[in-house]
Amino acid sequence: MALPFSHSIPSPVSLHPMPSHLAADAPAVPVLPRSTDHHHHKLVISGGGHLSGHVPISGSKNSALAVLAGALCCSGGAVEVRGVPDISDARAMVAILRSLGAQVQERGGGELAVDSTALSSAEPAADEVRKIRAGFFVLGPLVARLGEAAVALPGGCSIGARPVDLYLRGLSALGAVVELMHVKAANGRGLTGGRFHLDYPSVGASETLMMAASMAEGVSVLTNVAQEPEVADLARFLVACGAQIKGVGTRTLVIDGRRSLHGAQFTVIPDRIETGTFMVAAAITRSCVSLSPVIPCHLTIIIDKLSAVGCRISQKGDGILEVSAATATAGGDLRGLYLKTLPYPGFPTDLQPQFMALLTTCGGPSIVEESVFENRMHHVKELQKLGARIEVHGRSAFVKGRTTQRNVALSGSKVEAADLRGGAALVLAGMAARGVTEVVGVHHIDRGYENFEAKLLNLGADISREVIC
Ligand code: EPU
Repeated sequence: MALPFSHSIPSPVSLHPMPSHLAADAPAVPVLPRSTDHHHHKLVISGGGHLSGHVPISGSKNSALAVLAGALCCSGGAVEVRGVPDISDARAMVAILRSLGAQVQERGGGELAVDSTALSSAEPAADEVRKIRAGFFVLGPLVARLGEAAVALPGGCSIGARPVDLYLRGLSALGAVVELMHVKAANGRGLTGGRFHLDYPSVGASETLMMAASMAEGVSVLTNVAQEPEVADLARFLVACGAQIKGVGTRTLVIDGRRSLHGAQFTVIPDRIETGTFMVAAAITRSCVSLSPVIPCHLTIIIDKLSAVGCRISQKGDGILEVSAATATAGGDLRGLYLKTLPYPGFPTDLQPQFMALLTTCGGPSIVEESVFENRMHHVKELQKLGARIEVHGRSAFVKGRTTQRNVALSGSKVEAADLRGGAALVLAGMAARGVTEVVGVHHIDRGYENFEAKLLNLGADISREVIC
């Protein structure tokens, strides 16, 4: 039987059955005639409509990927992880775990059981590691547990050089010897506690070193650790498995290592980037949409920035937000602003392209500065094909926005997604554009958004997935 997380993909659109609350109202998603290779899909969007309704938010991609890597720490029992989104990056991570000898069972509805009590290899499948940045995270648990690992350089979105120096220097501080991509414990057994200051609060390096230190012998102190909610979520998972971590969610972690962690049940947090993407979908179409489940404190800067452009955001109940830009159509349009991406709690780089798409439709100019990744502006060229007026100077983009209240800023065209978030931005822009927009490179979007177009369709968007002939 082909498990949904194996590589024989049964359906190009949805691998899990759609959640019942979504399936009930969702218009039927057209079944594609052939090719299940997402490289040959395009999204066709007829823009100009409004959205309404509710978006069910999936579990966090970046949390789920880290927690699945963290399952490798659990030599003392299996883990059950809930809320794993049905996306191609998660499938790649499952393939990585299996290549190491872990047993992974997909139980439906985003629940995975991972039994890594017996590992058979310290060298994950290189072709899978090259697909996702999170493939490199397994280095920490493997060296700490097995005394060595050989991990290929990771893939992920092409948004900058994305070096791994902090991972390797951090592991050296915990007693590892690095020979090219072969990392060994100097004592031949496992890692030892140590101190390490991250020059930059890298999410992946923080996570990798936290996992390694959780299994090292003795106490480790990690400083300038990333404070992203996904890093704290991984810490909570490790603690549930018996790790001793103090300072969760802060810049300094004090970790008293344990040679063996046990199994646990764990549910990953809702995806704040997916939430932000759908909030922008409501704003760019001047609509009113509710979303749940969300953790509002993870969204503070996103709510601030959307409020600053003129949206109304209200909490409608426990974990439910409503975003309204509907009044912007009646009187007074949304307005431009200045934003700069920064490590959490600053504005997330993973929402920069989507916000840039929104700002092209707002009245007045905006400035968008990308400070996290040096090459995350691929979407600008494509937004320009839709008529967006954007100038890029280094890592800053000057967005001119619309000039009069009535003119439509964007008009449909053929565009190509070059990375995950840039791809989502193009779909959002297409929904605001006059006429038809075709987005190719959809496999990038499928890396990180579960049922993306089905969720948009459910809100009333005119969007379909077609095979490119
Ligand atoms: N960096 C270094 N050296 C290192 C590691 C990172 O210089 O050893 C630099 C990077 O080059 C970059 C900056 O640090 O300029 C930030 O990178 P970071 O390591 O924090 O990012 P990451 O761990 O590779 C994760 C997410 C990204 C998200 C970033 C920033 C996962 C799997 N990926 O990447 O998610 O953009 O943190 O928040 O957790 C996405 O979901 O679209 C995505 C790209």
